[in-house]
Amino acid sequence: MQKEIGIFDEMKKTLDELNGKGILLVAGDPPNVMTIGWGTLGVIWHRSIFTIMVRPTRYTFGKIEKSATFSVCILPKGYEKQLAFCGSKSGKDVDKIQHCGFTMEPGIKTDTPYIGESMIHYECRIVHKHRLDPQSLDGPIDKQFYPKKDYHIVYYGEILGVYRKEG
Ligand SMILES: Cc1cc2nc3c(=O)[nH]c(=O)nc-3n(C[C@H](O)[C@H](O)[C@H](O)COP(=O)(O)O)c2cc1C
Repeated sequence: MQKEIGIFDEMKKTLDELNGKGILLVAGDPPNVMTIGWGTLGVIWHRSIFTIMVRPTRYTFGKIEKSATFSVCILPKGYEKQLAFCGSKSGKDVDKIQHCGFTMEPGIKTDTPYIGESMIHYECRIVHKHRLDPQSLDGPIDKQFYPKKDYHIVYYGEILGVYRKEG
């Protein structure tokens, strides 16, 4: 059962997982899943915001560009293989949801589904996006992370609901 919890109740856990093996972004219709490791949680425009970063080369990019919402899912321990798979294979070549055996559940507050196996998931509505501006990016970061000039698109998702699996 999914219990709705406070928006930032699992912030530390979320950031630790982002910074660790990653968490899963679900976007598109039909949905695709992709591992993400970069993102922020915070408050902007008096709203609670989850920012995520997607390179334009990802299959997910085409999906999220046509979407008004996205979900972010944190899997329990034991799903390391699936996280690595979803972070190295592309949805344009393989149905990652089917391969990983994920059960997709309809979103509670949005049209984007979430992964039923998640221990925590966020449901977000895109309120802003922009491409990183190389002109205003720190030189060493540019050199280290963007040798191919495939600058991330940053999506700002207003967090509409956060859920923890209970029972
Ligand atoms: C731990 C980890 C974190 C990642 N974080 C991101 C990220 O934040 N943004 C991004 O664009 N790609 C990220 N990637 C790479 C994508 O997950 C990877 O390229 C994936 O195959 C893209 O899937 P898609 O083509 O189905 O969208 C990450 C990969 C791993 C393993």
